[in-house]
Amino acid sequence: MSNNPPQSGSAAMEGGGFYNRHSAMQATGIAALLSLWEDACRTVDLGQGPATIVDFGSSQGRNSMTPMRVAIDTLRARLGPSVPIEIVHTDLPSNDFPALFEALVSDPNSYMIGASDVFPFAIGRSYFTPLLPPQRMHLGWTTWALQWMSSSAIKAHDHILAGMSVLPSVVSAVAKQQAGDWECFLKLRSVEMRPGAKLIAGFTARTAAGTGWEWPLGELWSAVVEMGEDGLFSEEELNQLTIPIGLRTLEDIKAPFVQSEYFADLHLEHLDLINVSDPFWEEFERSGDKATFAKHHADMMRAWSGPVIASLIAERRKRTELVNELFSRLESRLSENPRPHQPYMAAVVLSKRR
Ligand SMILES: C[S@@+](CC[C@H](N)C(=O)[O-])C[C@H]1O[C@@H](n2cnc3c(N)ncnc32)[C@H](O)[C@@H]1O
Repeated sequence: MSNNPPQSGSAAMEGGGFYNRHSAMQATGIAALLSLWEDACRTVDLGQGPATIVDFGSSQGRNSMTPMRVAIDTLRARLGPSVPIEIVHTDLPSNDFPALFEALVSDPNSYMIGASDVFPFAIGRSYFTPLLPPQRMHLGWTTWALQWMSSSAIKAHDHILAGMSVLPSVVSAVAKQQAGDWECFLKLRSVEMRPGAKLIAGFTARTAAGTGWEWPLGELWSAVVEMGEDGLFSEEELNQLTIPIGLRTLEDIKAPFVQSEYFADLHLEHLDLINVSDPFWEEFERSGDKATFAKHHADMMRAWSGPVIASLIAERRKRTELVNELFSRLESRLSENPRPHQPYMAAVVLSKRR
């Protein structure tokens, strides 16, 4: 397998630790995966030497602390006190790795607190390339990343998100890209997994009827169009502004495993769709504070989409100013009609043939 691209269509998350501070929605989805993860940590085949856990698409690390702590505690009970545990965080080269390293030292929930013989590492390369030597990994974890496509070539002229376009040519191009990306990711990880290794993946997905993102992303697209009408985005920019994310259905995720029990020596042990609850809704119901509710959601949206949107705004223009304007418009739109935002997340458990 080549060590070179395909890379990724995405940009990393909003830097300066912004994603760490505004990813409570993602943390809520992760909490729903923890029992599957703990089960994988209890049942995975372990050898004699160090155990290697890999966190694909870690971003700035805060949301990895709890799952990595669960893994360390579960493996430590199985391995004994002094067998080394390696934790490898991977993300794009443009990721805010300093925020990750800082979180390992100073986040009150850091898995390094009180841990011994635990060794964190980081790799700044796309996971659409080989990342580890063959058969190195015992456990793999990836959350809220695999919806990003490996290419940003698909442009939707009717929506900000490629995967929410209803144009038939875009729908089929996204489905093709996401099918290829999923198979590519599975093949690469299979090489890196030890026999009997397990991988847990949670990522944004959809039903045939919807995605759960209709409200915030619909408002974001309306804000983009409005800025076009106000002369702040050119026609060309409106056409370029497509976030390279595609949402798979459970059938799409299952597709490689339909012909035979194994795909690339991987077995699909578990697959379901979780409707993630809105972490801000209860507080809003108590307080009725529309502005705070809208700010939480606008910040959450900016944390994952701000950098990719900025990168698609023409070079010569004032990117930060325009992105500030866009998310300020989004915030006021969201405050007009608050509702719970409940995205779908696919929960996938894979195991490597023994
Ligand atoms: C929404 S964040 C998720 C972060 C964290 N795992 C969580 O659950 O909160 C998605 C992450 O995936 C990363 N990502 C997207 N495409 C990637 C790729 N091809 N290779 C590695 N990381 C990628 C992004 O840079 C980003 O940090």
